[in-house]
Amino acid sequence: MMKRTIHWLILLGVAAALMPTGDAAALERCLICHQKHDLFKTEETGRKISLYVDKQQLENSVHAERICTDCHIDIVAIPHQKEVNAVNCKRCHYSGNPVGAPEGELYDQYEHSVHGLAVAAGNPTAPVCQDCHGDHDIMLHDSTESKMYRANIPRTCGRCHIDIYSHYRESVHGVESEKGNVDVPVCSSCHGEHNIARHEDPRSRVYVTNVTHTCADCHGPKGVASKYGIKSNRTETFEESFHGVAQQMGNKLVANCASCHGVHDIRSEDDPKSSVYIDNIPKTCGKPECHPEATVRFASGQIHIDPKSKESGIIYYISHFFLILTISTLAGLFIFIIMDLFRRAKSNRAKK
Ligand code: HEC
Ligand code: HEC
Ligand code: HEC
Ligand code: HEC
Ligand code: HEC
Ligand code: HEC
Ligand code: HEC
Ligand code: HEC
Repeated sequence: MMKRTIHWLILLGVAAALMPTGDAAALERCLICHQKHDLFKTEETGRKISLYVDKQQLENSVHAERICTDCHIDIVAIPHQKEVNAVNCKRCHYSGNPVGAPEGELYDQYEHSVHGLAVAAGNPTAPVCQDCHGDHDIMLHDSTESKMYRANIPRTCGRCHIDIYSHYRESVHGVESEKGNVDVPVCSSCHGEHNIARHEDPRSRVYVTNVTHTCADCHGPKGVASKYGIKSNRTETFEESFHGVAQQMGNKLVANCASCHGVHDIRSEDDPKSSVYIDNIPKTCGKPECHPEATVRFASGQIHIDPKSKESGIIYYISHFFLILTISTLAGLFIFIIMDLFRRAKSNRAKK
């Protein structure tokens, strides 16, 4: 029975191959077999993989104008060989391509990224273009169905980075992203897109001394986080702190935003699971390489110090005391000079 179906398929295929050419016919030539829902191949492991191709999906995609063999270039005859090579997107997506595929620096960067280098070195688990973008279902990134739609990016990367995705999903940023909030960071906001580098690489946006800037995009004075009632001076108050100054002097061991807040599991300070929740501070600050003697009082009010705010307690008053002292000293000096000039003018007039 099975054998007969295959014979049928082959016959149909051969007939299709003899049909007139043209784009629609070129698609039909393949779809005659591949639009069958029960077309499978069986892997060595015994796993069955569907070879059904949804024509509508391809027609809704950015590649609606492409025919099957534009991508599956090694299929030249029907019936075709069993082993088909993986599609190479760069056949069209390179700078100077004649088919009008988007081009430029953005795409050329991939080769030098951690992923591109790993693929070139023969790592079979590292992503090529289609592992991130999809195959027959590639849509523009503003379509909610696109794998590159902002809220879908964590899931797209998370397919391989499973542990990180599971932490991120529960973080303050991840929970909001899942709801469709576009102000919170997704993987690519912190890591980049085609230029993702290893975190120990100084070019990486998450390299230890670059983290502050990456968070500052949103948590700095002009950042979007202020929309959410979060103080927008978080990066300034860090930069003025001991940790911030030491980091600007080139110290790589001192705490940066991520050492205290975590990375993929950042939570609000009111969340008992947060690394900066009051009860967890001894553990967070007390890492063996930081302050092993830390207690609950250790960090209260001492981290994001803003001397301009009364909440900073004694620091506010000390900084105000010095401000008043400076102003009154300058004012005294000024009055003294004016009075002195006045006295001199008077005595000059008296001499005349
Ligand atoms: C006569 C039926 C038939 C026609 C026509 C046909 N295919 Fe196939 N195709 C198959 C079968 C059967 C397999 C599964 C082969 C196997 O068992 O590995 C397959 C597998 C594939 C695969 C998957 C290979 C893999 O290893 O995952 C691709 C890609 C493919 N076909 C593309 C095409 C394209 C493009 C065309 C048109 C140019 C086409 N096919 C026309 C029957 C057909
Ligand atoms: C824009 C490029 C592109 C076009 C156009 C395209 N494909 Fe594919 N196709 C891919 C990619 C990418 C894959 C994933 C496997 C790979 O990486 O090679 C794939 C996978 C497949 C598979 C294997 C399914 C699987 O899960 O292994 C079949 C069968 C297939 N294509 C058939 C077709 C047919 C038939 C057409 C035309 C109707 C077509 N493709 C058009 C890019 C394309
Ligand atoms: C046969 C040439 C060709 C191949 C192969 C090809 N593309 Fe394209 N791609 C194009 C063209 C042409 C466009 C522009 C479509 C348009 O604007 O109508 C495009 C558009 C795109 C877009 C939308 C970009 C935008 O901003 O408009 C993405 C994303 C994309 N391709 C990814 C891929 C991926 C991933 C692969 C491999 C699976 C691939 N392409 C394979 C020709 C190709
Ligand atoms: C690690 C995942 C990943 C890999 C691998 C990858 N890309 Fe992308 N690509 C992205 C992300 C993320 C964006 C940005 C989407 C956005 O604009 O928000 C993007 C954007 C694009 C765009 C612009 C269209 C759009 O949807 O914004 C094109 C075209 C594109 N990539 C093609 C490619 C090609 C060709 C390759 C292989 C050389 C490739 N990509 C490899 C993740 C990836
Ligand atoms: C708010 C910014 C931010 C977001 C969002 C983010 N990351 Fe990270 N990521 C970082 C920082 C900072 C580091 C460096 C940690 C270190 O130095 O130990 C890092 C490290 C990594 C690493 C390497 C270290 C490791 O543990 O393997 C991977 C892989 C990674 N991130 C993937 C992801 C993925 C996937 C997502 C989305 C689900 C994501 N990141 C979202 C900031 C972010
Ligand atoms: C198909 C699987 C796959 C996908 C999809 C994928 N990655 Fe990766 N990624 C890898 C592998 C494998 C490595 C390790 C490469 C190596 O070690 O040489 C890696 C490495 C990384 C690193 C560097 C880790 C380090 O040590 O610092 C970062 C960061 C990263 N990926 C982020 C992302 C982001 C962000 C996305 C989505 C835009 C993504 N990845 C999508 C497989 C994937
Ligand atoms: C793309 C912008 C963006 C980036 C980059 C970003 N954040 Fe956020 N972050 C937000 C937004 C928006 C919120 C508010 C989410 C909400 O409450 O709905 C937030 C919330 C937070 C909160 C919780 C505040 C609260 O009270 O709920 C902390 C802590 C935080 N971020 C720390 C960081 C750190 C540390 C980094 C860098 C590793 C970082 N963020 C990078 C946008 C960003
Ligand atoms: C030395 C540890 C430490 C460093 C470094 C640090 N923070 Fe904090 N952060 C805390 C603590 C503790 C709190 C809670 C008490 C407070 O508000 O001062 C906090 C509070 C916050 C909040 C408010 C959280 C909420 O729920 O309202 C944000 C946002 C924030 N930090 C962002 C950052 C950013 C961005 C950086 C880097 C520029 C950074 N932090 C560096 C320890 C740190």
